[in-house]
Amino acid sequence: MVSMADPLTVMPPRPGCARRPGGSISRAGVIGLIVAAVLLSGCAGSPSALDTKGPGAADIAALWWGMLTIALIVIVVVVGLLLFSVLRRRRGPETEVLRPERDRTGTLMIAVGGIAVPVVVLTGLMFFTVHTIRAVTDPGTPPALTVDVIGHDWWWEARYPDQGVVTANYIHIPAGRTIEVRLTSDDVIHSFWVPQLTGKTDLIPGQTNTLTLRADQPGTYRGQCAEYCGLQHAHMAFFVVADTADQFTTWLNAERAPAANPSAALAAQGQEVFLGHACSTCHAVRGTSANGNVGPDLTHLMSRPTIAAGTLETNRANIASWVLAPAAFKPGANMPPTTFDSASLDALLAYLESLK
Ligand code: CUA
Repeated sequence: MVSMADPLTVMPPRPGCARRPGGSISRAGVIGLIVAAVLLSGCAGSPSALDTKGPGAADIAALWWGMLTIALIVIVVVVGLLLFSVLRRRRGPETEVLRPERDRTGTLMIAVGGIAVPVVVLTGLMFFTVHTIRAVTDPGTPPALTVDVIGHDWWWEARYPDQGVVTANYIHIPAGRTIEVRLTSDDVIHSFWVPQLTGKTDLIPGQTNTLTLRADQPGTYRGQCAEYCGLQHAHMAFFVVADTADQFTTWLNAERAPAANPSAALAAQGQEVFLGHACSTCHAVRGTSANGNVGPDLTHLMSRPTIAAGTLETNRANIASWVLAPAAFKPGANMPPTTFDSASLDALLAYLESLK
């Protein structure tokens, strides 16, 4: 410490020296504030973890704000002390020799600032964290619904065991109710994260992890796989759709029903194409002989606004492009490319569009 002080003490005080750093700090501060404002603007809206729409996410956000506040206080105090010591020494030549009582002050500052304060702060944060974990994992009310979610490379299978519903990438729940989500994986580790509703939970092959989910108000909340799982990890989105009680019952009844037999001739012809082709060995359409379980259940395909786990909007052109060349949108996807003559493709698309 003494050797640190020596170079400063021999420097002659220069006019304006103490003010110059202040000037550049304030300029840097302004730039920093602008950058922070731009970055923080990304925190608003879906799917921001700070724009909370459920109790789990709210608890986590409270912990985050608490930690941020404490970290800012620590930074301000530490930087303030640092600036104080630097600026004070620059004001004039330091002739004072380190005396024993100043040495004791230094030791006291280390004991308080370096040991006592961190112990108190970190212990407090530990209790805050444990309290948050308990609050997030134990919602206090029994679940109104259980949904099984199975991770696949690279899409989400959702099963409602008590209702006999199987769907993909769109998980409908009744708003305001506690939902139990049981998570597992068919291949590698994925992670289920709906930032606005609750924290992340991993989907691990051969193991079932459980999380509770509640959306305070109806809405669509985007979720994302939060564990790197291969080439298309970024294209593994899903949506939690929180419905009103009536909407949820309507959705459940529609999803529970098998696919309606195609009434139009072209769609009926397309069903033959579908069932006669490899499609039906990987995909299920309830009510037909197609009962594959490799890819998403297509019984009510058109009820889902996107295909390929949030990658493409569900419409005729996108379905055609996807069926012909999935790798053009998701290189590495398990669905193979297919070849159809234009009449068969037309019929197949008419059939898929009939799966409402
Ligand atoms: Cu699944 Cu990342």
